[in-house]
Amino acid sequence: EEITHEAAPHTELATLPTSRPAGCPFDPPAELATLRAQTPLRRMRFPDGHLGWLATSHAAVRAVLADRRFSSRYELLHLPVPGAPEGGLPPAPIGDLTGIDAPEHTRYRRLLMGKFTVRRMRALTSRVEEITAECLDAMERRGPSVDLVAAFAHPVPALMICELLGVPEADREDFQRTAAGMSDPEATLEQMMESLTSLTERVHALVPAKRAHPTDDLLSDLTTTDLTDEELAGIGSFLLAAGLDTTANMLGLGTFALLRNPPQAAALRAEPELADQAVEELLRYLTITHTGFRAALEDVELEGQLIRAGETVTLSVQAANRDPERFPDPDALDLRRSTTGHMAFGHGIHQCLGQQLARVEMRVAFPALFTRFPTLRLACPPEEVPLRTDQSIYGVHRLPVTWDR
Ligand code: HEM
Repeated sequence: EEITHEAAPHTELATLPTSRPAGCPFDPPAELATLRAQTPLRRMRFPDGHLGWLATSHAAVRAVLADRRFSSRYELLHLPVPGAPEGGLPPAPIGDLTGIDAPEHTRYRRLLMGKFTVRRMRALTSRVEEITAECLDAMERRGPSVDLVAAFAHPVPALMICELLGVPEADREDFQRTAAGMSDPEATLEQMMESLTSLTERVHALVPAKRAHPTDDLLSDLTTTDLTDEELAGIGSFLLAAGLDTTANMLGLGTFALLRNPPQAAALRAEPELADQAVEELLRYLTITHTGFRAALEDVELEGQLIRAGETVTLSVQAANRDPERFPDPDALDLRRSTTGHMAFGHGIHQCLGQQLARVEMRVAFPALFTRFPTLRLACPPEEVPLRTDQSIYGVHRLPVTWDR
């Protein structure tokens, strides 16, 4: 009853709903569906006192993401989480594309787009296949019973980022271990910061090495542009941050979702050619980058309401991707459905630059895992799988799995 009261259409919302329904770790908080049905663009009070907005429908979220009158600059944004710095966030560090607007953004984006080429992504496909097979071999030797995140979901994208950036072979294991330290649920904040610093230092050290001895990778390619060493190191670190936890959590949470939906897992096993569609549906259904933010640069009329210059709009991308007006029976995981228009990679000028790489990784990894281990199953009760409930990227910290030998 409380939920209905909180969602009454004409009062401002006091907090962003964040609790997922008990027993349904893949579903968005239930209040979001109520809001979407009543007022897809709704007044919301932020914990720092700011009066902004919450968008929950596919149409409203898409409209904001497509509109250049909304800014991504971190320093203009209020975040709907307790403890967010008052007076806005610090500006984006050099190389972070998601926190800047045109024209600065356009320059970086163009330079990078030219380097994420079809040829490079195709070359990476065969490396994904090799790396996936190596991780599965190691898993088979170590198991049955492994943590799928440590054995598979994390190393595959970590090693692929190493490929992309051209991290020398000898440094990769160490690189991957340090990267894993950044999302280790047992690590203290201090230890995580240490891992981050150490990783950034490694990327910084790579830049002069690539200038001196270019190899066939994205970072070497970028040294031929007019980007400074500082910009190159910043972009390298940003790619690492943007491409690792996202893909790793899609693989981890995606496997969890498939294991909880045996008919869908069986379909994927029976028809590995379903992989392309399956990946899109998992992206939509899980929407691990669940929430986005934009600040209005001028007054904007949307959904019959007036968003004033300076106001932050919180975008519930997870609610948008479960909008029944856009996706019939949205809460069902259905690998065969049409997912056209899902926004799991964002939308508009900031739409994910690494999406082709992420797709290649997932299209190879999911079918390979499920065909290699036909009896793959959880090794603990589902409610004991530790979830990343309070993080900007949703997923699982660990996924204990087992299989019949
Ligand atoms: C941007 C999701 C994998 C690089 C984004 C955005 C989303 C997203 C939602 C938009 C952010 C915004 O509008 O503020 C994902 C998901 C992934 C994934 C779900 C995995 C399944 C990757 C990979 C890379 C990458 C593998 C690169 C190696 C980037 C970059 C941007 C970005 C550079 C910024 C683009 C810009 O601001 O112009 N990603 N991403 N992502 N992503 Fe990804």
